[in-house]
Amino acid sequence: MALDEKILQLKREKKAIILAHNYQRPEVQDIADYVGDSIELSRKAMEEKEAEIIVFAAVDFMAESAAILNPEKKVLLPSAGARCPMAQMLTVDEIKRWRVLYPLVPLVLYVNTLASAKAYCDVCCTSANAVEVINALDAETVLFGPDHNLAEYVQEKTGKTIIPIPERGFCPTHLLFQPEEVQALKADYPDAVVMVHPECTAEMRKIADFVGSTSQMCQYAKKSNAEIFIVATEEGLLHRLRRENPSKRFVLAYEGAVCPNMKLNTLERIYLSLRNERHVVKVPEPIASKARKALEKMFEITH
Ligand code: 13P
Ligand code: SF4
Repeated sequence: MALDEKILQLKREKKAIILAHNYQRPEVQDIADYVGDSIELSRKAMEEKEAEIIVFAAVDFMAESAAILNPEKKVLLPSAGARCPMAQMLTVDEIKRWRVLYPLVPLVLYVNTLASAKAYCDVCCTSANAVEVINALDAETVLFGPDHNLAEYVQEKTGKTIIPIPERGFCPTHLLFQPEEVQALKADYPDAVVMVHPECTAEMRKIADFVGSTSQMCQYAKKSNAEIFIVATEEGLLHRLRRENPSKRFVLAYEGAVCPNMKLNTLERIYLSLRNERHVVKVPEPIASKARKALEKMFEITH
């Protein structure tokens, strides 16, 4: 039996669902029950009342959020090594240091953080709703981490003072995009629309026609009348964009834009993960309940 068929059979037997992030390998996206961005996947995990097991094909912080929001379900991360390097950039000690410097300033954390960090924040956000979350706060100055590019973008959009913590947290994959290379592509495709993830640099955002999260890019491409799109985010998204828009053309803004951590979830590892029910993601109390409050506050603000 082919590997994908074996996975589907196991999935039925074990009442499992597979959630895959937009950056997953094409073959993983194709066997998933749902493909989406970080906030959509967290929501989906909560809606799936019947499922007993959630295989979360993504990276550590996304699976942790699913485990925090669904303590009664078994959440599996197919590859134990699938860790987001940006999430590792903000430690609890660093948060405490900034909290001492700004005791009255609210702390908003991007979901790309470990649960131990989320436990110390007032509210979480994703790239899709960061502007909405910050606008909803009754504060003109906000501590924000760990992505300094997203912090800068939110500052531009809200007009509030956003203090990035740490000062230069970043996504190594999104830093690979360079405006000159996009300009060169624009010379080849003058009618192309440029879509840029907010984790990219300010120079990249400046030349964008649209800035948004991965799923916001999908919505934008679907609605747009344009036929060619230059895309500045991890290459996995192009599989979904092409599947949903077969008549449109999508060009990656830099061919090497790969998140190696996202790609660790192979079909083989998903099969083994389901068969052996590993690697179980569990967040210990009281960290889980504190982090859950910050995630729920985000849902409350954004519905
Ligand atoms: P999205 O929320 O846009 O899917 O982004 C998650 C991520 O890890 C971006 O690098
Ligand atoms: Fe983390 Fe960047 Fe990979 Fe997203 S693309 S999971 S932010 S390293």
